[in-house]
Amino acid sequence: RKRIGILTSGGDCSGLNAVIRAVVNCAVDTYGWEVLGIRQATLGLMARPPQFTKLEVDQVDSLLTAGGTMLGTTNKGDPFAFPMADGSLCDRSEEIIAGYHELGLDALIGIGGDGSLAILRRLAQQGGINLVGIPKTIDNDIGVTEHAIGFDTAVNIATEALDRLHFTAASHSRVMILEVMGRDAGHIAISAGIAGGANVILIPEIPYTIEHICHKIKERQDKGKNYCLIIVSEAVRTHDGENVTITNRLGQSRYGGIGEYLADKIIEHIGVETRVTVLGHIQRGGTASPLDRLVATAFGVAAVNLIAEGKYDRMVTWQNRQVLSVSITEAIAQYSAVDPNGTLVKTARGMGIYLGD
Ligand code: F6P
Repeated sequence: RKRIGILTSGGDCSGLNAVIRAVVNCAVDTYGWEVLGIRQATLGLMARPPQFTKLEVDQVDSLLTAGGTMLGTTNKGDPFAFPMADGSLCDRSEEIIAGYHELGLDALIGIGGDGSLAILRRLAQQGGINLVGIPKTIDNDIGVTEHAIGFDTAVNIATEALDRLHFTAASHSRVMILEVMGRDAGHIAISAGIAGGANVILIPEIPYTIEHICHKIKERQDKGKNYCLIIVSEAVRTHDGENVTITNRLGQSRYGGIGEYLADKIIEHIGVETRVTVLGHIQRGGTASPLDRLVATAFGVAAVNLIAEGKYDRMVTWQNRQVLSVSITEAIAQYSAVDPNGTLVKTARGMGIYLGD
């Protein structure tokens, strides 16, 4: 009888609880194994005693529609350079590895984005951990999989936001800017932008000019459309390479603030009434879309099946309508940005949307 661990690492997103539910159902009911849910990602294995909950099917049954992760997560504290109370950085990888062995785990399922999976893989190689990865990220920037858990829900939420902003834009003859997440990839912005009828879509992969945005607004006005919907990805850069960042209360430099920056520039150039909505973590919270639930469930079952077959150091992927697996090394090496010559860019341009130059 196997005993496996499961943890969620990095930022939360919709669909994490659906994966936990699938893993527990398949491992406990189909294979008769034990599943330990590790608390707060690798912090649960670092703690003494290790922090976990034994997961039973009854406990996870109602999780399909629950947002967040019932195990908790963290995106702070690289275990190889872990920030200590005195400000120093300490390698605490051996404590995590010892936690895995102390719990008598036969394998570990790690749900994370590329950063978390890279850390887990390093720990696995160093400490003989039998690791299987499941990709999740609203940014959808893991190249080897067409779906990562959380992306579809984020696109749904951003699209709904545009649908709602549309009415206010039209009623008030305003420019409405929606700032979305996505880190260095513009997948959320371009998908939601097309689906939600944006007139301007700005993504990090294609530089823009303020002059061309203003031209688009004017062009619409000339056609009697006194409003404009703009969706902008948090990490876009202006044509001259200027990167707009803000510093948060903790003093960390991070993406964001581009919406306000653009609004100021538009008002300065053409004086049109402009408003900004920053969607923020709304994109990551709450119930997952049906597609994310489907992908999460398929990934959870496939990860358990990989363990049953003794296949480790693999990440499950969605490719050509099937769930397959690739080595984690390959998975983290293949970054996916929006292809400037790809279908979505061509679609947007064909619709007359301004996307940059
Ligand atoms: O990677 C997911 C993501 O939501 C990005 O889109 C965003 O830049 C970042 O995480 C926000 O991180 P935090 O929740 O730490 O503010």
